[in-house]
Amino acid sequence: MIIKHASQLLVVSDQSLGIIEDGAVVIEKGRVAWVGRTQDLQESGNQGIEDSRVSSNPGTLEPSAPVIDATGCVVMPGFVDCHTHLVFGGYRDDEFEQRLQGRTYKEIAEAGGGILATVSRTRQATEDELHTAGTARLQEMLEWGTTTCEVKSGYGLDTETELKMLRVIRRLAADSAQTVVPTFLGAHSVPPGVSKPDYIRQLTEEMIPRVAQEGLARFCDVFCENFVFNAVESRQILEAGRRHGLEPKIHADEIEPSGGAETAARVGAVSAEHLLVPSEAGLRAMKERGVVAVLLPGTSLFLRTQAKAPVAKMRELGLTMALGSDFNPGSCTVLAMPIVVSLACLFYGMTIEEAIIGATRNAAKALRLDDVGSIAPGMAADLLILDVPNYRHIAYRLGHNPVRQVIKAGRVIHTRSRA
Ligand code: NIG
Ligand code: FE
Repeated sequence: MIIKHASQLLVVSDQSLGIIEDGAVVIEKGRVAWVGRTQDLQESGNQGIEDSRVSSNPGTLEPSAPVIDATGCVVMPGFVDCHTHLVFGGYRDDEFEQRLQGRTYKEIAEAGGGILATVSRTRQATEDELHTAGTARLQEMLEWGTTTCEVKSGYGLDTETELKMLRVIRRLAADSAQTVVPTFLGAHSVPPGVSKPDYIRQLTEEMIPRVAQEGLARFCDVFCENFVFNAVESRQILEAGRRHGLEPKIHADEIEPSGGAETAARVGAVSAEHLLVPSEAGLRAMKERGVVAVLLPGTSLFLRTQAKAPVAKMRELGLTMALGSDFNPGSCTVLAMPIVVSLACLFYGMTIEEAIIGATRNAAKALRLDDVGSIAPGMAADLLILDVPNYRHIAYRLGHNPVRQVIKAGRVIHTRSRA
């Protein structure tokens, strides 16, 4: 397949979007084979592709079309959503309404709602029900351009249900169009009727070994908050995960400063996520250990948090900043990465360039994936064709879905029905 005449092709490097005007991409066997200007493609007479096979309307191309004319469009890497809680039973619209009336997320959680409300509905749900709901959500994400998606467990909080969730995630990975990366988040809360020390023992001695043995997760995550698992407990759990080959990730300093960023650095976490109220020392330590900062601005909007992730400080320290949706039934129902990009700019003060890099290349780093998130020879051909003339529109047209076509591993897997 060849894509040509992109008004802007965003190849996305560490430092910049790497814009190529009138850009072209050649794809072979699901991977990017060549990237450059359309003019150079034609001069080298690339593979004798004839112009008669070029369609002028990408919206109506056959899925098997060998040449896509992207005139007037931005072409960029597929979005990588590096933080979701996509598998769960039931929604929590009742709590949403309570929060609008003034109750806080923490008050609701401490009264037995919040995560625990979703836990009881997830325990009741069958694997098929969870899989059906997860499939629909992944499809919606695909329509918004997400081609790689991390999914966490964490609404089971017992061995049986955590394994059930992870098996559902494995099924989604096998039969959805996207790449799905599984994370074990058994340490999302303490289940009712179990003491915290007992639950930590269950996590470290029973659940983590089972999850690792069955190959059900790549990462181990913890909700590190003083009122959930404190820094010491979080470290203990993450180190157990690491001993079993699960790399650490951490929900850090989201609601209260809890030493999450410091813990991320101490355990050498792949990423620390949320980071609304981290200490400066914690951020410095993260920089030294190469921990990726994953920012989730959809959650700031949804929870109406006063604190904003300190992007200016992170930029000054040279931290790698990634973006995710945090899609879940309690603290963020936004799953569209173009909206997350807008919110990162509007709420956190990221530049548009930083936000797009954060939602592609840096999000891939937060998942330790080195063949997605940018467009270069050898990378997976996961690409988006957007109906906007330049990259600024992605952030600027808040709420507009710019995705016209989604290409995954060199195949068109979604073409929008409207022109
Ligand atoms: O990332 N912070 C912890 N976990 C989720 C919330 C999950 C829920 O409320 O169901 C989050 O915000
Ligand atoms: Fe989360």
